[in-house]
Amino acid sequence: SDFDTVIHDGTVVTAHETVRADIGIRGGVIAAIAGRISGGARRIDAGGRLVMPGGIEGHCHIAQESSTGIMTADDYYSGSVSAAFGGNSCFIPFAAQHRGQTIADVVATYDGRAAANSVLDYSYHLIISDPSPAVLEELPGVFARGITSFKVFMTYDLMNIGDGGMLDILTVAKRHGALTMVHAENNDMVKWMNRRFVAAGMEEPKYHALSRPELAEEEAINRAVSLAKLVDAALFVVHVSTRGGAEIVRREKLAGTRLFAETCPQYLAFTRDDLNRPGMEGAKYICSPPLRDHATQDALWQHIRTGTFESVSSDHAPYRADASGKFVNGDDAPYPKIANGMPGIAMRLPWLFSEGVGKARITLPEFVRLSSANAARVFGLERKGAILPGYDADIAIWNPEERRRVTLADQHDNMDYTPFEGMDVTGWPELVMNNGRVVVEKGVLKARPGEGRFIARKPVDTGAMPGHRAVEFDIAAAYGREIAP
Ligand code: URP
Ligand code: ZN
Ligand code: ZN
Ligand code: ZN
Repeated sequence: SDFDTVIHDGTVVTAHETVRADIGIRGGVIAAIAGRISGGARRIDAGGRLVMPGGIEGHCHIAQESSTGIMTADDYYSGSVSAAFGGNSCFIPFAAQHRGQTIADVVATYDGRAAANSVLDYSYHLIISDPSPAVLEELPGVFARGITSFKVFMTYDLMNIGDGGMLDILTVAKRHGALTMVHAENNDMVKWMNRRFVAAGMEEPKYHALSRPELAEEEAINRAVSLAKLVDAALFVVHVSTRGGAEIVRREKLAGTRLFAETCPQYLAFTRDDLNRPGMEGAKYICSPPLRDHATQDALWQHIRTGTFESVSSDHAPYRADASGKFVNGDDAPYPKIANGMPGIAMRLPWLFSEGVGKARITLPEFVRLSSANAARVFGLERKGAILPGYDADIAIWNPEERRRVTLADQHDNMDYTPFEGMDVTGWPELVMNNGRVVVEKGVLKARPGEGRFIARKPVDTGAMPGHRAVEFDIAAAYGREIAP
């Protein structure tokens, strides 16, 4: 019984340990893990390298129109390619409902966009902007098809569904084991601020951040958690950007609420001062929730270190700095008319590795939990997010010593800028595998469009949800006695 591929002499990083081990892959699946494995049609030398579960990108906008109809620059080909160059083996973009659209139509639309194009395995989170009775009736069929999570908005006029709509959605989700994700910002606070700024002629990008104050996020997170608790449903708070928001998540987790959360690299790497860049450069840093300050960065890192967040996700929302994206309303548009979002699907993991592991803020196992293991458990990707026999051979081999100065070309996306341009990072993914297929190797794309599969996800077992802990497993049973712990 030989292997298709053997990865040898690497340091395998799991959600709990680092161990020296060889990995035997057969039929796209991890078939063996042992101290020394011979044979293999292909042998990959991972000496001096880290062998980790491929990243799972749980928050990205790919081939998706914004609520006002602006299409992202990345489709399922460029988006999956960029994700792969950034160390990911799987991603879960959004399939977004526009008001009046049936869910069947939404899913068919995104199947058409994804199936022939993705180089990585993928699933969708459904965005629901119109929870009409007919739509609520459609949802169980979508869950049965393996789309077991969805995002709702408390902000944006064309997206927010109101507290009653959220209660309806949370109730259906609870009944069927689906997970509700929420973008939490108080819409009326933001609109009220916008009106005052625009009336005063304060329209430059920097006012975007001031118009979406920390209180708007904190109030909405508190409200979203209260709604979820009312109907005893699980909730995942996306892109937490504030100390106050993180503190609510922490407090509620400690109290036993089935609550999950993520933050994003942009809230750790940049501040609202970046919106002051000259000319319209600041528009490149407009995202919602907005960038905050250095004190917030320190607080968010503390929350990452201490388990408040399941994952660090990119919220890749690629709108080019031209008339197709940011400046669809002109290159001097007032900030409320500039497309929201920052790109970063290829930088999420190199940046987190460099600033997190490289600067001793997090350990290697914590990096694995934040980049893949927790997302796999929370989002119901049964055979992903761990290097274990029987799991998909979704593996990223990292050179922890490689130093890079970030360029746009390194992103391999369809954008005309990267906010990370010129930053120095140490540690880079050299080889990325999905189901045993090499997707990226030493900076070269090896995969063809359409090789990624749609992954039907499992219902979310909220009782067994990992919370702030990572999945537990018996390391000795998993790795065999020949591996010294
Ligand atoms: O500004 C952002 N994040 N745009 C993408 C849409 C969203 O709210 O996640
Ligand atoms: Zn070997
Ligand atoms: Zn959002
Ligand atoms: Zn988003």
